[in-house]
Amino acid sequence: MHYDIDLDKIDVLSVAPESEPERQYYFMAKCRQYTRRFFEKKGRFPTACIQTLGCQMNAKDSEKMAAVLSCIGYEETDSKEADLVLYNTCTVRENANLKIYGRLGYLKKKKKENPDMKIVLCGCMMQEADEREKIRKEYPFVDIVFGTHNIYKLAELLYEQIQAEAQIIDVWEEARGIVEDLPGRRKYPFKTGVNIMFGCNNFCSYCIVPYVRGRERSREPDDIVDEVKRLVEDGVLEVMLLGQNVNSYGKNLNHPVSFASLLRRVDAVKGLKRIRFMTSHPKDLSDELIDAMHECQKVCAHLHLPLQSGSSRILEKMNRRYSKEDYLGLVDRIRDRLPDISLTTDIIVGFPGETEEDFEETLDVVRRVRFDSAYTFIYSKRFGTPAADMEGQVPEEVVKRRFDRLLGVIKEISKEITDSRVGQTVDVLFEEINEQDASLLTGRLSNNAVVHCKGGNSSCHAFYIGKIVSVKLLESRGFYYMGEIVS
Ligand code: 5AD
Ligand code: SF4
Repeated sequence: MHYDIDLDKIDVLSVAPESEPERQYYFMAKCRQYTRRFFEKKGRFPTACIQTLGCQMNAKDSEKMAAVLSCIGYEETDSKEADLVLYNTCTVRENANLKIYGRLGYLKKKKKENPDMKIVLCGCMMQEADEREKIRKEYPFVDIVFGTHNIYKLAELLYEQIQAEAQIIDVWEEARGIVEDLPGRRKYPFKTGVNIMFGCNNFCSYCIVPYVRGRERSREPDDIVDEVKRLVEDGVLEVMLLGQNVNSYGKNLNHPVSFASLLRRVDAVKGLKRIRFMTSHPKDLSDELIDAMHECQKVCAHLHLPLQSGSSRILEKMNRRYSKEDYLGLVDRIRDRLPDISLTTDIIVGFPGETEEDFEETLDVVRRVRFDSAYTFIYSKRFGTPAADMEGQVPEEVVKRRFDRLLGVIKEISKEITDSRVGQTVDVLFEEINEQDASLLTGRLSNNAVVHCKGGNSSCHAFYIGKIVSVKLLESRGFYYMGEIVS
């Protein structure tokens, strides 16, 4: 158990240990000398700002890196003028990459004002050789570049960079095992993500994730359950089990385990109140899992089930390995067993070759399933994926029109569903005081919908944060509710 390790007791003059995570604790101790020198020079510890793009997996990776930086002696800040600015990048759609280049322009200027500033880029975009090469050639002021497989090496790379005073690039094409027991830190004390697996084997034809996150690797169930137990002891009420395709969890372990059985084990952890998971691929969602969701009391009434397209023809070209009918049949089976479940989804508009008829099929599924909400994306061509070379790329204005139509239908249904629950009393986990209006407390229902509540003065607000409380839903505002605390 390494969480409570005392870095000051590590002999930094000895040779670096070979084994992990000991090696990283050693380099954290080494880097601590740098932050102390910084303090002696400037009368304050250096600040670090972590900016995260993309999915929940990236958010989780960023939490881990924040913990490492905090152990080293960095003080976390939201200011992008920090002494260390780290961008955890995404590359699922092209505009995520463009955003990074935009930010680098700004950081170049800031670094001129603060030459001690360190700029770190990591995550999915860095796994792309072309992008990496561009950073190396055109952005020499970036100090450290690493990918998705060696996030845990942040302390070691930072130390190397401090020593070398030169750009360090360390990106691995493949993962080399899973490192357990690095420091933990959470954005919220009462909820957090827990990685259960990494990577993806599905190769949906539009998607770059399998190329940048590598093949599926599952963590041992004992390690996951132990982590959840530790988190609960430390005040966590809600965990989100994370993986690109959680339904194929455990298949590649020496002793294969199903996701359903993992869910049952996590459900049995005393003191835990809520379990969420993300993301489920429809092709792998088993009846065993539906049964487990039905039986496990702590599993939230929410399932995110990416549809991508409602047209069987397009689904085949996407390599999704289910048809429109399969998807609708699955939804029926889920709702049979879990009638109160909220379903959300991801949909891509404008996949190569998508015709008006194909798009109508998508609208048809949306109308039939009645998703509580949906993330909608305009297809983005990703270099190296099979879809990038497909015929029939759809003109931008056609895609835009379809996108707006789809959004209209989704919003309308979403509002109807939200409206229909007004008047109900539900359990809410309060997460924060509303950023725009401090008289409001913001929390989430089991189905992940957001509710804002007025209640007393702000000192009593703090009391509710991190607690599950009964709330009456007074009013629906489309995607969220206004409510009042009843207990
Ligand atoms: N273009 C648009 N959307 C994409 N997604 C993945 N790849 C692409 C792409 N090339 C969407 C999918 C996935 C979500 C995380 O991002 O809908 O479920
Ligand atoms: Fe991408 Fe498909 Fe894997 Fe999801 S399941 S990460 S969309 S390849």
